[in-house]
Amino acid sequence: MIFEQAFLDSLIQAVETSRKYRDLHIPHATLKDLLAYESHHSNSRKELEANFRKSLHNVMAPYLEDVNYPVETANLAEFHAQDPSSAEVKSWCQKIMSHHASSRERLPYLDAFYQKIFAKIGTPESILDLACALDPLGLPWMNLPLSTNFVAYDIHQPRLEFLQAFFEYFYPGAQAIHQDILTHIPDQKADCAFFFKEAHRLEKRRPGSNRELFAGLNAKWLVVSLPSRDLAGHHSLETYHTSLIQKAIEGQPWQLTTDTAGDELIFFIQKHD
Ligand SMILES: C[S@@+](CC[C@H](N)C(=O)[O-])C[C@H]1O[C@@H](n2cnc3c(N)ncnc32)[C@H](O)[C@@H]1O
Repeated sequence: MIFEQAFLDSLIQAVETSRKYRDLHIPHATLKDLLAYESHHSNSRKELEANFRKSLHNVMAPYLEDVNYPVETANLAEFHAQDPSSAEVKSWCQKIMSHHASSRERLPYLDAFYQKIFAKIGTPESILDLACALDPLGLPWMNLPLSTNFVAYDIHQPRLEFLQAFFEYFYPGAQAIHQDILTHIPDQKADCAFFFKEAHRLEKRRPGSNRELFAGLNAKWLVVSLPSRDLAGHHSLETYHTSLIQKAIEGQPWQLTTDTAGDELIFFIQKHD
């Protein structure tokens, strides 16, 4: 159905000024894209409003942890001033990661997770961490040279400001970018792109979007991970998630190999040498 522009604008404005989302500064492009997709799948204003709210909730809400980022960003300066040892930096990162579901689940096998990745793809000089959330706090476990060009993308502005401060103190070669990786697919050359625990939700947002994203990235390796079990841990998602990745690369001349670490399936997609 076609909706009046003024109505569409009012829905976006309502989100941008809402108490729930205003401080996150979700990119305007993300809201426009979600609304455009839902307007093709809604038959009334009421239905569009509900579908838009639901799709935004699916993108943002399951991952709104209880970290006060402006406070933690300020605490970082004090922490850095104490000249912490690498063990102290790790334990500080672990404490923050324990507040976010995806990184909390990974804590028990952080070492194995990155070891398996770099054993497979070698030591990259450049990494794009797509839809990163708090994964960049895993840098102390990655054991990469400080010169590594690490670029982290997300749409949650306060979390990115916190990550940027962390980078400036501890990983000066890294950068945090506020960008929707689907509406604006990063196009810079990189040795690898990480895309952890988000492909299943991106596919829900817009079917076919992983295919579009994977094709658009200018990286030699795509390292994609997905949960091997449902949240309650009762059902295996291995077949379902493997087929999601296979469909996204169907017909492409890329090599796919798989591995696991903890409850995470890891897909290594080699686009070129
Ligand atoms: C499941 S968490 C990702 C976890 C992280 N990759 C990890 O495995 O530790 C989802 C994150 O993706 C971000 N996100 C969702 N859609 C995005 C998009 N289109 N572009 C950039 N970031 C996105 C959300 O803000 C949230 O921080």
